[in-house]
Amino acid sequence: MLWMSALYATSSSRLYCELMNNPGSPRPGFPHRHLLGIEGLSRDEIAYLLERAEGYVDQNRRADKKKSVLNGRTIINLFFEVSTRTRTSFELAAKRLGADVINMSTSTSSIKKGETLLDTAATLNAMHPDVLVVRHSASGAVSLLSQKVNCAVVNAGDGSHEHPTQALLDALTIRRRLGRLEGLLVAICGDVAHSRVARSNIHLLSTMGARVRLVAPRTLIPSGIDRMGVEVFTDMAAGLKDCDIVMMLRLQTERMHANFFPSVREYFRFFGLDYDKLANARHDALIMHPGPMNRGVEIDSEVADDYGRSVIREQVEMGVAVRMACLEALANNLPDSAEGNL
Ligand code: MLT
Repeated sequence: MLWMSALYATSSSRLYCELMNNPGSPRPGFPHRHLLGIEGLSRDEIAYLLERAEGYVDQNRRADKKKSVLNGRTIINLFFEVSTRTRTSFELAAKRLGADVINMSTSTSSIKKGETLLDTAATLNAMHPDVLVVRHSASGAVSLLSQKVNCAVVNAGDGSHEHPTQALLDALTIRRRLGRLEGLLVAICGDVAHSRVARSNIHLLSTMGARVRLVAPRTLIPSGIDRMGVEVFTDMAAGLKDCDIVMMLRLQTERMHANFFPSVREYFRFFGLDYDKLANARHDALIMHPGPMNRGVEIDSEVADDYGRSVIREQVEMGVAVRMACLEALANNLPDSAEGNL
């Protein structure tokens, strides 16, 4: 604890420089080989990643965005599910830190020819990547894959389980706007049942001392979720009352194998965020959405584009900085020469 405070308090101190300049041994700041989820991360570890990301925000706004932190490193983005912002964001993050980046998707991989996930992982592992960034539709698939490779693995979203970098970028966005996470009241609204974003955010926000409410139709609230220390509401007016943050979730129809609500029109009427419902939150409450947004389904267009309060674009910007911080933290823990074979 003591060293962490020293690290944060004096970022130019010798301790800080030593930690940042000697890659290869496990870092006390983020002493993990992989980033598979927020669950299990400590407050200090989350704060460390946010602090590092903070530094990259300014760098990303400069004309010269390049650093050499990941020079010589190879990063493979392996996406078995569609993605625009997350994949692009990881690619930019890696390139801005000087890594060589390969992008693979289901349509360009041998999975199409019947290869299993683990065979694909073994094949890629034999090419000595340093970090694999993986998105998969099955909860737990990324963790399984991480046990079969020598490199570091980042979970870029696995089924409805976790999406750790999304929660980190949300936290960075909130912290930069409101100066803190502790003590805030955050309403996460919509399709909680299928949302990895909700799960990662619940873990992160609770760990950092925020209070979390979930607001959704009963059919989209997973049973037992209250054990995660959240308050559950089925009415937007009550759920949004006095909230500092209103975080909307996309209806994840690709994961729905039953009818969870009568119609989209009705869903919007009762759970879509419009100004009437927003009026229950604090007058300066921030509006968030991880994207992609379904306008007129979970959020009204005008509210989404209300840039005084909607931080949806800032979330995308923070995504690159957060992913830079995560890649850097994991690369710092890589041995100088990996063994490379399964
Ligand atoms: C995700 O991949 O989970 C997204 O960031 C959010 C969504 O797809 O709704």
